[in-house]
Amino acid sequence: MRENNSIGLKVFDLTKANFGSEFKWGVAASSYQTEGGWDADGKGESNWDYFSRKSGKIERGENADVAADFYHKYEEDIDLIKAMNFNVFRFSISWPRILPQGTGEVNQKGLDFYHRVIDKCISVGVEPWITIYHWDLPQVFESQGGWANRKILDWFSEFTEVVTKEYSGKVKNWMVINEQLSFVGAGYLAGVLAPGKKSIKAFLKAVHHSVLCNAEGGRIIRKNISEANIGTTFLTAYIEPVDQQKKNMEAAMRVDAAVNRLFVEPALGLGYPEDTLPVLKKIRKYYEAGDEERMVFDFDFIGIQYYFRTVVEKSIIPGIRAKEVKASERGVPFNEMGGEIYPEGLYHILKKFSQYKGIRNLLVTENGTCLPDQLENGKVHDPDRIKYFEDHLTAILKAKQEGVNVNGYFVWSPTDNFEWDKGFRTRFGLVYIDFQTLQRTMKDSGSWFQEFLK
Ligand code: FCB
Repeated sequence: MRENNSIGLKVFDLTKANFGSEFKWGVAASSYQTEGGWDADGKGESNWDYFSRKSGKIERGENADVAADFYHKYEEDIDLIKAMNFNVFRFSISWPRILPQGTGEVNQKGLDFYHRVIDKCISVGVEPWITIYHWDLPQVFESQGGWANRKILDWFSEFTEVVTKEYSGKVKNWMVINEQLSFVGAGYLAGVLAPGKKSIKAFLKAVHHSVLCNAEGGRIIRKNISEANIGTTFLTAYIEPVDQQKKNMEAAMRVDAAVNRLFVEPALGLGYPEDTLPVLKKIRKYYEAGDEERMVFDFDFIGIQYYFRTVVEKSIIPGIRAKEVKASERGVPFNEMGGEIYPEGLYHILKKFSQYKGIRNLLVTENGTCLPDQLENGKVHDPDRIKYFEDHLTAILKAKQEGVNVNGYFVWSPTDNFEWDKGFRTRFGLVYIDFQTLQRTMKDSGSWFQEFLK
């Protein structure tokens, strides 16, 4: 029995039954990171197909042309998800697989692929939960400015219309967008993810357009699918100042606004957090008539994606005027991407989001970690990942027992896959993949879930 941290999380309370019978247990993955088949059956080029080849920004020069080859191995992977006793599989749809030119002609073979995935899920008793957009934009749009081009509203609406009409009879659980902050912030401002831009102007436009698309996507799902359960997902991080000096506490508030409030608050009708982060006032230049109402949608649930705590101090970086004090400099545990392992942060984030009046229901739609796997005689041992899950689940349970309406937990990710700019170096899977042979082996953490969810 462990009681291992500052908020008194007690790991010994951890049983599936304590989460209640309605709690959703899932795994989450995305199209570009897992599918491969990058030009199979008429698929068009995505921004990530282009970026991974051209940018020199992916570690070891890797790309996801083949990735986990989910395009061909989806049956085996869904069987593994079932074998680990999960009842939800969250995956995304590759836009250029459905609309190879971005708009216009629909690729029937692309539609058929997701029908096969959905049917396989249903046949083994796993609910398919679809994310409409998880960062793979048709390259034809990226070369016209991508999310910084207001035409994305029409482009995104067309794609959403097509997929929601197509799968309306089979799929009731939908998420509009995966983590706006990641693809907008890291894509158009920090320049580390596709398209690799570093422009404050493009960033602010992309923020606004993604906010409009997020809400519009919700409306389109509502219109096309009766009894849909509609959500969207946000990157979150627990933000703390490095010490209690006023300047650092204020820096932490700005980072919190940028990370945790920037996208959820406009969706809830609260507008952008301009008071804390005045640079956001510049977004008003890009408003058109009616935008304020169009930014809002009443989601059935909000997907929390939590990986780490971020500790910050004041700095001179324009706009945000804050910078991170890395976990490696603070002598605390961190994963292979440098993110601090801090389960209490998930508890705090759930409490924080549950305080918004407009949020009815929370699900943890992603959580997981990349730590070294130990390969030994055909087995894959990952004891630190198991501890990670125990501690994060305990954090959720504690929040739930204190009345937070959190009703699901999805592990990132069922199998190892292509981790964006990190390529294949960092592994998050419950199932190990040998990327030479594509052979799958359930890790000890996968067996841990199998047992826990029995
Ligand atoms: C999240 C992303 C997901 C994956 C995990 C590790 O931020 O949504 O695609 O990269 O991080």
